[in-house]
Amino acid sequence: MISVSQLTKSYAGRVAVDGISFEVAPGEIVGFLGPNGAGKSTTMRILSGYMPPTSGTATIGGKDVFRESLAVRSQVGYMPENAPLYLEMAVKEYLHFRGALKGLSGKDLRVRTGEVMELCGVTDVRRRLIGNLSKGYRQRVALADALIHRPPLLILDEPTNGLDPTQIRQVRELLRGLRPQHTILLSTHILAEVEQTCDRVVMIHHGRIKANDTPRNLTQGLRAAGTVYVELQGAKDAGKKLDALPGVRKVVTEKTDRDWQAYTLRIESNTDVREAIQELATKEQWKIRELHRQLPTLEDVFIELAASDAPGR
Ligand SMILES: Nc1ncnc2c1ncn2[C@@H]1O[C@H](COP(=O)(O)OP(=O)(O)OP(=O)(O)O)[C@@H](O)[C@H]1O
Ligand SMILES: [Mg+2]
Repeated sequence: MISVSQLTKSYAGRVAVDGISFEVAPGEIVGFLGPNGAGKSTTMRILSGYMPPTSGTATIGGKDVFRESLAVRSQVGYMPENAPLYLEMAVKEYLHFRGALKGLSGKDLRVRTGEVMELCGVTDVRRRLIGNLSKGYRQRVALADALIHRPPLLILDEPTNGLDPTQIRQVRELLRGLRPQHTILLSTHILAEVEQTCDRVVMIHHGRIKANDTPRNLTQGLRAAGTVYVELQGAKDAGKKLDALPGVRKVVTEKTDRDWQAYTLRIESNTDVREAIQELATKEQWKIRELHRQLPTLEDVFIELAASDAPGR
C-alpha cells in the first residue's frame, strides 16, 4: 500500500528526513514513532502529497505521491499535526464543505457527512462553530474530515494529541473498527496506545529509521529486559543475596515499610528469576508478600533508541 524508498527531505539545506525506506502492507496498522523533531510529520506530509521530497520516492497503491498527487489524495485520509480547520464554520457545514472538495456530492455527501459525524462522536456538536470547540472535539472533526471520502489509507499525525483518556480509548476503538478494510499509518507519543493498536512499529530518529518490527519483537530484543519487584520480610542483607542470583543485573532497594523491605531487580534478557527468589526465600525463611515481573515496554525501547546517539539537533 505504501512504499518508501530512500526518501530524503531537506529544509533550507538541513536534512530532516535522511534516506528512509519502509513498506506498509494493505490492512496493516503501523505506528510511526520517534522523538520530537525526528522527521515524522515531514514524512507524513510527503506521503500525503502535500510537499515534494528532496530526493527518493514514495508510492501509494503504486502511484507516485508527488507526480500523481491528485490520484494519491483520493486514496489517502490525512490528518495533519495541527489540523487547519476553518474556525468560523459550523462542524456539519465544514465536513459538508470538505466532502464536496474531495468529490462527494448530492445524497451521498449528505449521508456520508452524517456517518462520519456519528463515527467520530461529533453529531451532538454539529451546529457549533469549530472555533468554539475544545481541542479534543476539534481533533475528532479533523478525523471525520480524514475519513469522509472513504479512503483506504489513513495517515494520522498524532490523532490522539490533546484528547482525554476516555477520548483516547474511543479513538483507539474507532481505529480498530476500521480494520481490516483500511491501512493506517499513525504517529503518536502515547506508546501504550501503539502496543495495543499497532501491528508494527517504525521508529525514526534524526531522520533515519532505527527500528522496524512488531511491538513484541522490539521489546524482546531489548538489552535491558525488564524488572522483578519483590517485597519481603527477612534479613537486612537480603538485597545482597538477591544480587547474587544468576540473571540479576542490579538490585535497587525501594522503600521499607516497618520490617518489610521492597527491592526492584533489573534482570538479563529472557530470564525470569521469580522461582529462584521463591527458593531463596524458603531457604532463608523470608516471608514474601509481593513478587511480580514487569516486562519491558515500548517505552523502554523508545528511551534506549533516543539515548542511542547524540542529543537532538
Ligand atoms: N517547514 C519547515 N521549515 C524548516 N524546518 C522544518 C520545517 N518543518 C520541520 N522542520 C524541521 O525538520 C525536522 C523534522 O521535523 P518534523 O516536524 O518532521 O518532526 P516530528 O518527528 O514530526 O516531531 P514532533 O514529534 O515534534 O511532531 C525538525 O528539525 C524541524 O525543525
Ligand atoms: Mg510531528
